[in-house]
Amino acid sequence: MVLVTGGAGYIGSHVALALIDSGLRVLIFDNLETGHRETVDTLMRVKPGAAEFLLGDLRNPADVAQIFKKYKIKAVMHFASNICVEESVQNPTKYYNNNLIGSLNLVDGMIKNGVKAIVFSSSAAVYGQQKYSPMDEKHPQNPVNPYGHSKLIFEEILRRYDELCGLGSVCLRYFNVIGADKAGRIGEWHEPETHLVPNLLTASETGGLFQLYGNDYDTVDGTCVRDYINVEDLADAHMSALNYLMDGGASDSFNLGSAAGHSVGQILAACEKVTGNGVNVEIQGRRSGDPAILVADNRKAKDILKWTPKRSLEDSIDTAHRWSRRLASEIRRR
Ligand SMILES: NC(=O)c1ccc[n+]([C@@H]2O[C@H](COP(=O)([O-])OP(=O)(O)OC[C@H]3O[C@@H](n4cnc5c(N)ncnc54)[C@H](O)[C@@H]3O)[C@@H](O)[C@H]2O)c1
Repeated sequence: MVLVTGGAGYIGSHVALALIDSGLRVLIFDNLETGHRETVDTLMRVKPGAAEFLLGDLRNPADVAQIFKKYKIKAVMHFASNICVEESVQNPTKYYNNNLIGSLNLVDGMIKNGVKAIVFSSSAAVYGQQKYSPMDEKHPQNPVNPYGHSKLIFEEILRRYDELCGLGSVCLRYFNVIGADKAGRIGEWHEPETHLVPNLLTASETGGLFQLYGNDYDTVDGTCVRDYINVEDLADAHMSALNYLMDGGASDSFNLGSAAGHSVGQILAACEKVTGNGVNVEIQGRRSGDPAILVADNRKAKDILKWTPKRSLEDSIDTAHRWSRRLASEIRRR
């Protein structure tokens, strides 16, 4: 059985779906702080008996002990974390506590129970201000907020646990994750939503105002350029990472991005095309710390994990749109 911490959340649920589809059994462990019971119920309906759910908090060692007492875990996919960069600046203790103490309890439980493989959700935030673009894994690491710092520290902790205890780890540094399950069963559902695509789609559907931060960058249209990666492509990469570890692959870190940059203006136009509605835009000043361009060099994941992103930007926005309509019209009203 594969343990998926944070499996009730956006990315963890898509990876859980991929694990179930590949014939594996999954244990979803989540405190439902930002994840959703509806998502868990959907996953449990996909293939009866393939998924189980344990409500618990990684910060509580007794909850972690329950996992290994009740279930035979062979590998871990670790998504559970607090994820808002801005909130991490306002409340660093919350981030260091959850993202480090919670993660440490998990690794401790793994070691005590002989579980030797973990795939960890890291982030492009481990790099901080970019020195060059596209960024490869050797780019200097100077995170500019506690969120990114917590991810960097945990990557380092995992390296030590490999040296000391033989714990195999793959750290996956995601760039900007977008899109939803193509069958529309699950999708991105953060409250409040801070990510670009769902916010643009909502503004476009409701006529609400969209705040665009900075249109005077040295980019194709003056707006920030980012690397958008489809969540199902990301799930494929997790499957590759799991197989890599199970085949005895060495612990390592990999960028997960599309290696293509799109500006906020280009994403906005793509969302308008998919919804058929214009977006009311209010231009604001630049946000501090926002680099002009952030694009991944993804060659290492392609070479070593044998992974290639396949979904187009249009497909990603289309699936995100179908999900966002379902969320607004059906799921949130239950
Ligand atoms: N969304 C992105 O674009 C993005 C980019 C880079 C990295 N990441 C990383 O990917 C992972 C998943 O992100 P997401 O967007 O799915 O976030 P999410 O908030 O949707 O999912 C996180 C899940 O973890 C659960 N959780 C949090 N703390 C927990 C704890 N102490 N015990 C048990 N469960 C806990 C939450 O309830 C939630 O279900 C995170 O580690 C995040 O840092 C996300």
